[in-house]
Amino acid sequence: MNKGELKEQFGKIFGAAHTPRLFCAPARVNLIGEHTDYNGGHVFPCALSFNTYVTAAKRSDGKLRLYSLNFPQIGVVEADVNTLAFDKKQDWANYPLGVVWAMRQRGLDVKGGADMLFWGDVPLGAGLSSSASIELATAVALNALFDLHVAQTELAKIGQEAENKFVGMNCGIMDQFASAMGKKNHAILLDCNTLKYEYAPLDLKGVSILICNTNKPHNLIESKYNERRAQSEHALKQLQAKLPIKALGELSEKAFEENKELITDPVERKRAKHAVYENQRTLKAEQALKEGRLEEFGKLMNASHVSLRDDYEVTGKELDAMAEAAWKQPGVLGARMTGGGFGGCVVALVKTQDVDAFKQNVAKEYRAKTGYTPDFYIAAADDGARELKD
Ligand code: GLA
Repeated sequence: MNKGELKEQFGKIFGAAHTPRLFCAPARVNLIGEHTDYNGGHVFPCALSFNTYVTAAKRSDGKLRLYSLNFPQIGVVEADVNTLAFDKKQDWANYPLGVVWAMRQRGLDVKGGADMLFWGDVPLGAGLSSSASIELATAVALNALFDLHVAQTELAKIGQEAENKFVGMNCGIMDQFASAMGKKNHAILLDCNTLKYEYAPLDLKGVSILICNTNKPHNLIESKYNERRAQSEHALKQLQAKLPIKALGELSEKAFEENKELITDPVERKRAKHAVYENQRTLKAEQALKEGRLEEFGKLMNASHVSLRDDYEVTGKELDAMAEAAWKQPGVLGARMTGGGFGGCVVALVKTQDVDAFKQNVAKEYRAKTGYTPDFYIAAADDGARELKD
């Protein structure tokens, strides 16, 4: 859908009284560093060229009217900026409503309300952060409409707060940060302990980043995501009896091995092991990318998947079948699940010349094992949330 069509739809739904502005915010794929963000470790995502678009105009009567062309069956969701509350019936609209709520909590003046029409080409429920892209599209739009001058990194935190405190999903900062701060042809190495970040050029020389969608829907609100987070936090608490650390991400592999017996529950010990080793793998992977050692990067991706499967236990049958099928293919440097897990996508580094054969072979094997037909997308790293001007 192009800009003209989106504005036309806006007129149809909300009337043509005011001229809306157009904004977008991208989805993301995480190359490595999974379930490390809320453990104070590093992540290495890039924003994608899949986006949520929003045409929006401010109001002055404190009303919010939200409509999504992706969920026409839900209709227009109306709310009052002073009485915002999560309600399952509001469905997808809980994300933008949560953002307005989080802005109000911070004392940001959005009390006039707004009309907002959304449309996105992000595959939904695929673990590519469709929800973060809705949150950031909302945040960047309100920031501009109400002249708030809030920095992009703060908009990311507002998105995370909406998700944590309004929607009830205890996610870390990765998805919102990637959506806010994405940069064309770059990945972002983010230290989630300090929010220091650097951009790494994705100079892949004949290698493609291929996203393989299992098409097994994932829903992190109903998955074991919050439980994993609680287990990691409990393991950290036990380590803190002896170690002066604030997060698992501060530990080297060696320090973990020397102190792991402090964690009494073997399951929690495995969870912490993943968080520590995955963080170290992420740092090694960024170094490997910088030095053009893509084979090494791929091996670290494979090790990441194995750790997420065996120690963190967030993969499941479909993601494992997809990764295993990918590992066997000629021209594959590495493959791993990406995002929260329990369904969603695998990300693979594949020599560009082998991509077609890869898709055919993997689709066949994956379908035979699971009954699902997969989708494939070549990832193009793109810019973060922004206004699309004429
Ligand atoms: C989801 C969360 C992120 C992150 C990943 C796992 O995408 O929203 O904060 O924890 O899972 O790495």
